[in-house]
Amino acid sequence: MKATAVSPSNIAFIKYWGKKDTQLRLPANGSISMNLSGLTTTTTVEFNASLKTDECTIDDVKIEKEQKRVSEHLDRIRSLAHISTYAKVVSRNNFPSSTGLSSSASGFAALTVAAVNATGLSLPEKELSILARQGSGSACRSIPDGFVKWTDGNTNESSYAFSIAPSSYWNIVDIVAITNSGKKDIPTSEGMKLAETSPFYQTRLTGMDKKLESCALAIKNRDFTTFGTLIELEALNMHAVMMTSNPPLLYLSPHTLSIIREIQHIRGKGIEAYVTMNTGQDVHILCLPEHSNEISKIIQSLPCCTETIMNHPSCGAHCISNHLF
Ligand code: DP6
Repeated sequence: MKATAVSPSNIAFIKYWGKKDTQLRLPANGSISMNLSGLTTTTTVEFNASLKTDECTIDDVKIEKEQKRVSEHLDRIRSLAHISTYAKVVSRNNFPSSTGLSSSASGFAALTVAAVNATGLSLPEKELSILARQGSGSACRSIPDGFVKWTDGNTNESSYAFSIAPSSYWNIVDIVAITNSGKKDIPTSEGMKLAETSPFYQTRLTGMDKKLESCALAIKNRDFTTFGTLIELEALNMHAVMMTSNPPLLYLSPHTLSIIREIQHIRGKGIEAYVTMNTGQDVHILCLPEHSNEISKIIQSLPCCTETIMNHPSCGAHCISNHLF
């Protein structure tokens, strides 16, 4: 059987950085995110008895180093469905992979939903989120709709994501500013292993529950100033841990910093906008819809910015009927 799923990427407002169980991908702390309408992965999966191995392409290129991780993920689904058939997987991102934008969240969420449906199984959202998490932690947050919380949990079954507000609840905009500084060099999963070596890591974890509560409340109240101030501080808090790991991780490039400074400058002029960054060199700029065009124009005029992608809150991963093969 063949199935196709489309999944949004998501941006974490309260970040996942560090695991308490690497095998199960249980995060050290909970996180909160929003699904992104403009960054999606579409994946078609077909289990086919004539295949001698899993065959996977991303954007028309046969995957190599990611193959093991993808096949291990398919194994989880095969085991649930009690099948041993190999799969053909064709996956496409609607954003250029060379930009350094993270695709593991949308990629593993789309793979999970497509593969589960291709086996003929029908699983509830919670189980899909638990499965997606084991492929890539942040992927579990791309399964539910809109604004999402991922609880850390202490077991496989208790660590999953759920919606705290639908996508229509709050129309905020995430402008992704893509810089011309190239791809990230240290993969997220590798970088995350160093979190515990930072002297600030335990302090970061101690304040987490309070931060999660404040962020959820700011979303509930649609309080943009409280929300923006909190998420910008949170992103820099995570990067402080990265920078003080041993060896240090510097994910922020001079281009990233130029954009952050420009946003602070714009804010000084009374236009509310806030930034958050992950392990790529792109910057996510959060603003209200009435300011999005103006901000996007300003950022695009900077020499370090090659492109901006406008995102609204979106629904989570779901099946579609148009297959990629
Ligand atoms: C900095 O989900 O890519 O983007 O579970 O090892 O695949 P793995 O990590 P991943 O980590 C994302 C880290 C982050 C913050 C976040 O999205 O919460």
